[in-house]
Amino acid sequence: MAENIRVGVIGTSWFTDVFHLPALKSHPRVDVTAVCGRNRQRAAEIAGKYAVPLVFSDYREMIERGGVDAVLVASPDDQHYAMAMDVLEAGKHLFCEKPLALNAVQAGEMVQKAQSAGVIHGVMFTFRWTPEYQYLRRLVEEGYIGRPYHCQVRYLSQWGLEPAYNWRYDRRRANGALGDLGAHAIDLARLFFGEITRVSARLDTYIQRPGPSGEPIDPSNDAAVLLLEFANGAQGTLQVSAAAHTDQLQTIDVELHGAAGSLSASLPWQSGARLMRVPGAGQPAQDLPVPEELWCGTPPADNYMDRFAQLLCRASIGDRLFIDSILSGSLPQPNLVDGWKVQQVVDAALASNASGQWVEVH
Ligand SMILES: NC(=O)c1ccc[n+]([C@@H]2O[C@H](COP(=O)([O-])OP(=O)(O)OC[C@H]3O[C@@H](n4cnc5c(N)ncnc54)[C@H](O)[C@@H]3O)[C@@H](O)[C@H]2O)c1
Repeated sequence: MAENIRVGVIGTSWFTDVFHLPALKSHPRVDVTAVCGRNRQRAAEIAGKYAVPLVFSDYREMIERGGVDAVLVASPDDQHYAMAMDVLEAGKHLFCEKPLALNAVQAGEMVQKAQSAGVIHGVMFTFRWTPEYQYLRRLVEEGYIGRPYHCQVRYLSQWGLEPAYNWRYDRRRANGALGDLGAHAIDLARLFFGEITRVSARLDTYIQRPGPSGEPIDPSNDAAVLLLEFANGAQGTLQVSAAAHTDQLQTIDVELHGAAGSLSASLPWQSGARLMRVPGAGQPAQDLPVPEELWCGTPPADNYMDRFAQLLCRASIGDRLFIDSILSGSLPQPNLVDGWKVQQVVDAALASNASGQWVEVH
């Protein structure tokens, strides 16, 4: 039997702890051999928790000496490009957090490097793997809504309400709520309706935050509204906010309307989702149960997020899909090309906000 895939992990935040490491460890063909974080003590703690033998605070050292075949890059957005390019230069498979980079030029270079390295690459667009959105996609593909007319994605959260320094809202380091939450929302819009061709956007910053040492900084947006045009002729609207007093940590609402009917899914992150369909004009809305097989036998949980974290340890999605793709030698979806296309939409939104004009996506 072939050897296991040896994985090194860069970034040791709660998300790595709750989602990435349990999923990687659940895969029977994975050995997580190394963990790297800027704070060595935190990295050592998490390595202890998941029985990872090697701990690094320098990611280049981990790539050289960690004995890894594949690397997960789960560091802040401004670190992705340099780390990914080094991982790919070393010929390792790459699983990168969203958003891929700070701009589409960087993201495009990452795609080219991955393609010339001939490695497997993937991106953690988490929400597309929820059973609700998998099911919506399947229904759209099967023609449930007919010719697509409108796609609405609304991702509201409390993540940025705290008026403390946060790299996400520091323009030097990230593209604010647009780059952070918007990357997921754009991925969902592409998942349901395909390529986005033109964007008009308005970005705002509502919460004032100091820099890392209390100094004033140039802030990134914490809220964004986008109008979208799709290659299939449909219209879209997309709203993201990190400054909304939602009743749960975050809620993602999707509505899809077409010539033959409408579908909607509301996904509050704790209580779980509600899917509805309207089969035609004047018809009452109906609840749409998600086929249980999409939960792959994951037992129900009080908190939706906990159940979804369990699903990531069972199904071929997220980190496990990346590993399965290495084992089968086929590229997963989404991969770096999807990450790059999402980044192009982010860039177009930034340009549109600056110019006040519609901007072509390229
Ligand atoms: N897919 C999702 O649903 C999801 C959810 C949360 C975060 N993310 C993404 O994950 C990434 C990290 O976000 P976060 O909230 O975990 O950030 P964070 O600031 O909480 O943690 C970043 C981690 O990266 C490490 N790090 C930073 N610079 C480093 C360096 N030079 N060398 C080694 N390690 C370094 C830090 O030590 C820390 O462990 C971001 O790109 C974010 O968008 C994705």
